[in-house]
Amino acid sequence: MKKQLVILVFILLVAWVLAGCGGGGSNEPAAVAPREEATSSGDPEAGQPLFVGTCSACHGPEGLGVTGLGKDLTTSTFVSERSDAEMLEFLKTGRPASDPLNTTGVDMPPKGGNPALDDAKLLDIIAYLRTLEK
Ligand code: HEC
Repeated sequence: MKKQLVILVFILLVAWVLAGCGGGGSNEPAAVAPREEATSSGDPEAGQPLFVGTCSACHGPEGLGVTGLGKDLTTSTFVSERSDAEMLEFLKTGRPASDPLNTTGVDMPPKGGNPALDDAKLLDIIAYLRTLEK
C-alpha cells in the first residue's frame, strides 16, 4: 500500500515537471520572433542614395541589373529567401568569380567595393533592396 502511494506521488511529480516544461517550450517561439524582426533595422530612404552611389554601377539604379555586370536584384530569390542578417553577411563577403556559387564569372566585390559602407549603411541598403523586390 505504501509502495503504491510512493509510485503515485512519483507519477504526479513527473507529470507536473513535464507540464511545466511543455508550457515553457511553447513560450519560446514567441520570445524568438521579435528578435528576428529587430534585425530589419535598416532605413530604405537612407539606403536608396547609398545603393545608387555604390551598387547601381553594376546593378542599375532600380536594381534591374546591367548586362555583363551585376544581376537583377528585383526578381532574385537569393535576396528574397535570405534574412537581413544573412544578406548583411553576404554583402560583407561578396561573391568572387572564383566562388563555385558564382553564376556569371564576374566578381561581386565585398561591400560593392566601397569600404565606407558599415553594417548600419549596409542594413539601409538591404531595406531599400526589399522595396525593389517584385
Ligand atoms: C563591380 C560590380 C558590382 C558592384 C559594384 C556590386 N555588385 Fe552585386 N553583384 C555583382 C555580380 C557580378 C553579381 C553576380 C555574382 C555571380 O555571378 O553569382 C552580384 C550579385 C549580387 C547579389 C546576389 C544576387 C543573386 O541573385 O545571386 C546581391 C544581393 C548583390 N550583388 C547586391 C549588391 C549590393 C547591395 C551592392 C552595393 C553595396 C552591390 N551588389 C554592388 C556585381 C556588383
